[in-house]
Amino acid sequence: MKALVLSGGSGTRLRPFTYSMPKQLIPIANRPVIEHVLDGIRALGVTEVGVVVGERRPEIEAVLGDGSALGVRITYLSQQQPLGLAHAVSVAREFLGDDDFVMYLGDNMLPQGVTEIAAEFRAERPSAQVVVCKVPDPRAFGVAEVDPDGRVLRLVEKPAQPRSDLALVGVYFFTPDIHRAVAAIVPSARGELEITDAIQWLVAEGADVRAREYSGYWKDTGRVEDVLECNRELLDGITRSVRGEVDERSVLIGEVIVEESARVVNSRIEGPVVVGRGSVVENSHIGPHTAIGRDCLLSDTWVDHSIALDGATVSGVRGVHGSLIGRSAAVTSVRSKHHHRLVVGDHTQVEVAA
Ligand code: TTP
Repeated sequence: MKALVLSGGSGTRLRPFTYSMPKQLIPIANRPVIEHVLDGIRALGVTEVGVVVGERRPEIEAVLGDGSALGVRITYLSQQQPLGLAHAVSVAREFLGDDDFVMYLGDNMLPQGVTEIAAEFRAERPSAQVVVCKVPDPRAFGVAEVDPDGRVLRLVEKPAQPRSDLALVGVYFFTPDIHRAVAAIVPSARGELEITDAIQWLVAEGADVRAREYSGYWKDTGRVEDVLECNRELLDGITRSVRGEVDERSVLIGEVIVEESARVVNSRIEGPVVVGRGSVVENSHIGPHTAIGRDCLLSDTWVDHSIALDGATVSGVRGVHGSLIGRSAAVTSVRSKHHHRLVVGDHTQVEVAA
């Protein structure tokens, strides 16, 4: 079995970050989402991976390389435009050949993995096997109507009145039958070749299409609030490791990772927290649920439930909460009781205390 990771797309919902980086490289617990995805694939014993990339190919390639550091072999497949998930499958046609494959959306996190679901697919080889997850409000998702034996009767994209609570998760298992379906469908109203339409085409042809339920934690990290929530979830699983320097005036509580060459000075860190390589935390109160990237400076500040990307500075500001701070961005204070001074980029959101 091969794997196909979809890492193109526009990432409009994650602006402004996606103006300068692909969303699949946004760090969750200090590792890019796509590295978590590749861990999940390797856990299935799959090592031959096609990564579909758009115009952000150079950044993704610079981080993942040939995949050997992650135990996989990567072939990059260029998609000229984000014309849909099924279009991405057609771009990968030659790479996939006549092999079965697992298709993974490069921004979906399923930390508990899909090993058993994959084993079932390998044993039974239905034409397609989708992964579903029970959600309280399925209206924002692709929804599967499934019979008691797990056969898919119908897939509906974002139904106004869902007839099941089973949302489609961003992991799919396919035999080469999917290629006929992809070739047969036409673009949807939004101009994309939809994978749900391709799978629905198989259902209509009478093919064996099954759904299997994933009951672990699942998050599509498409929006800032999802990224922060997922970060909290993953940080809850870390264990304490202090390789950097922590001075005697500092206090670390609970699960705190201080990576090599990071420095904590006169600060209180309440885990779970990760402080990345080369970062400095001084005279500050950090955590819980905070991930600080590499080479950041946090000085005279209180930060919790947040992510700071590499090179960020937060200084002299108290009560930074639920925030995502971009690479080399600076959040600092100004000596005034009356003014905020803001240099805010396009599609940025700033909330100041009223
Ligand atoms: P989406 O999150 O559905 O699409 P998007 O990246 O365009 O985001 P937004 O809605 O915020 O603009 O895509 C799911 C995953 O599939 C994501 O990792 C990007 C990838 N993708 C492709 O590789 N090719 C495509 O043509 C599309 C639409 C998505």
